[in-house]
Formats: sequence, structure tokens, C-alpha cells
Amino acid sequence: QELKGNIRVFCRVRPFLSDTDSNGQEEAIISYPSSVENAGRGIDLMNQGQKCSFSYDKVFDHSASQDDVFVEMSQLVQSALDGYKVCIFAYGQTGSGKTYTMMGKPGRDQKGIIPRSLEQIFKTSQSLESQGWKYCMQASMLEIYNETIRDLLAPGRSSSEMPGGKQYTIKHDSQGNTTVSDLTTTNVFSTADVTSLLEKASHSRSVGKTQMNEQSSRSHFVFTLKIFGSNESTGQQVQGVLNLIDLAGSERLTKSGATGERLKETQAINKSLSALSDVIFAIAKNDDHVPFRNSKLTYLLQPCLGGDSKTLMFVNVSPEASSAGETLCSLRFASRVNACEIGVARRQTQSKSSSDNSNRLSYG
Ligand SMILES: Nc1ncnc2c1ncn2[C@@H]1O[C@H](COP(=O)(O)OP(=O)(O)OP(=O)(O)O)[C@@H](O)[C@H]1O
Ligand SMILES: [Mg+2]
Repeated sequence: QELKGNIRVFCRVRPFLSDTDSNGQEEAIISYPSSVENAGRGIDLMNQGQKCSFSYDKVFDHSASQDDVFVEMSQLVQSALDGYKVCIFAYGQTGSGKTYTMMGKPGRDQKGIIPRSLEQIFKTSQSLESQGWKYCMQASMLEIYNETIRDLLAPGRSSSEMPGGKQYTIKHDSQGNTTVSDLTTTNVFSTADVTSLLEKASHSRSVGKTQMNEQSSRSHFVFTLKIFGSNESTGQQVQGVLNLIDLAGSERLTKSGATGERLKETQAINKSLSALSDVIFAIAKNDDHVPFRNSKLTYLLQPCLGGDSKTLMFVNVSPEASSAGETLCSLRFASRVNACEIGVARRQTQSKSSSDNSNRLSYG
């Protein structure tokens, strides 16, 4: 039995897509153990005649709806309103369903975690108003493309143009709060505000076609909502953060058919994902030195992976037999992530009434 750390891991298997299973029966390489202790948590993969078994905090099979998935994480999302730093990210091979899981598609049923989380945050914050809470929320969206940060909400940013002179330097303060210099942050007051921002951002995001996915994300996408809450009647203040991240997919260069710009993108993606895996290895082994600085992605995620946030990783996998090797790599990586011990999640709160910490946010 593996030891479980405190980064939670959910696995989601996407259904066969019509154009991949159109020529008949694909042999099923994924199955789910029926034993009681592993129900809803286990997954078995057949790879080269061998059965490999894994278990996570939750496993969603191909029939899970967007709603089924969100139900399992709405509490986690909620805790951002209580002053926690929350980080949810999707990892997996290209075409395995990360963007579908995080963003989803237009329409009530197909919406993914990001729009659903925001709806919930606004709904709950409104209901907390009756208890004297007032919230102020700031959204920002960036992508990391070829190891460069791009501001997806920069005014006047048209598809590929880079605004000049912007540094986009990542900084973490001593309390694990992250800022990216020059990044546009927008005050948001309703779900509608965020929806239009998300639309804007998804048009600006770098997307291309690969052999494995028509609409492949060529960058890591990071949505951040900073939440400041104060309660007039009790004098309490809270500061929470919700980070929702859709990673670019890993892919074998030989399989991707990439050349030129696409090849460069693929190399950058693979490099940053292997930096992520180095970081996870170091944390899992309890190394003194964790190489967060080796890529923009890992440096940005440092507080989520090595700090005091509540972190959940989705590992998305494809059901096709032709992807078995990649699926095995993803599932192994996910087990390693699941075993990582990071700091204890803490709330950032401040109470005006107590004199000794009145000017500082405290943790507890
Ligand atoms: N659970 C699901 N139900 C229905 N369709 C899905 C599901 N998951 C993924 N898909 C479809 O599969 C295709 C690939 O999914 P998606 O674009 O989310 O992959 P990805 O992991 O983001 O890939 P990349 O790394 O290339 O960006 C899309 O057409 C998407 O709509
Ligand atoms: Mg994607």
C-alpha cells in the first residue's frame, strides 16, 4: 500500500471519441477494480500484456459528467472564500481531456471546472453578505508559452503580438502570496464578468492542431482569482486565492508529427513538464533542494506544490490502446504526486479586534 501525501489526485478517463473508435471495437485497456475498498478509487491498465493497478483519491470513468466531477470538488473551491489558497491543475497526455475538464465547452452541461467554480464562488459570496461579509475579487489570466509569460487580459492584445517592455516577473512574498509584475488584474463582480474575461482569454490562448488533438493547447493556462473578504460586524478579514490551471499536454515528438514552430513548442512543453516531474520527485523524496526555479511553470506553482495551499491534481487519460504507454507514464506520475507531503494548508485571516496582529495577516 502506497503512502498518501496531501496533494490530492483525481483521475479522469475520457470516453472514446467518435473518430477514434469508428473502425469498430477498440480493445478495452482500462478497467476498474470491483473490490469494496477500491470502489471509485482504483484503476487498472493493461499494458503489453501486464496489468498495472493504481489508486487515487477518486477515479472518474468515461461516463462521468462535468457535474459529477464538480460535485467532488465544490468544497475545495469553497475554501478559497474561507481564506485558503486553493490550486487545481490538470495534467495528462495531449488529447486526454484536460481542457475539457477545466474549461469544458459552451452549454449548461458541458461547462468545466473553471466556470463552475466561479459561479459557485459568486453565489456563495452573495449568500454570505447576509452575515456581514463583503468580498472583493480580482481575476488574472496568463499563459506560459515557450517559457515566456503572456498576459491574456492585456488591453489591445491581439492574437500573437507581444506587448513591449513587459517583464512579467514572478515573485512570492514570505507568506506565499504570488504576484506577477505587469500582469493585468481585473476586478470582477459577477459570473458574467468572469465569463467574458474567459472568452477573451481563450481567444488569446495559443492553440494549434497536432496529430493527436484538433485543438491542442500549446501553452500552460493559469487562471487566478484573488479573494478579499471582510466582515464589518465582526472585524474579520480573509484573503484567499483560487488557482485553476490547464497544462499543455505531454506528447512524444515522434507521435506528434511536429516540425518547425510546432516542434519548438513541443520541446518547450516537454521541458517544463519534465521540470515539474523533477520537482515532484524532489518533494516526494524530501530533498533539501527542490528545483522550483528550473522553469516558469514550477516557479509559479511553487506555493501550490511546496507551500501551504490545498492542491488537487487531475490526471487525465485517454482510453485508446495506442496510448497505453503514455497513460502508464501519466498514472505513475500521478501516484508520485499523490505521495508528496507539502505544508499544512492554512487560512489567511486577520482580525481587527486583536491589537497585537492588527496590521498583519495571520495564519491559522
Ligand atoms: N469527458 C469527455 N467527454 C466528452 N468529450 C471529451 C471528454 N474529454 C475530452 N473530450 C474531447 O476530447 C478532445 C480532446 O480533449 P481536450 O482538448 O480537453 O484535451 P487536452 O488534454 O486539453 O489536450 P492538449 O494537451 O492537446 O491541449 C476534445 O474534442 C474534447 O471535447
Ligand atoms: Mg488542452
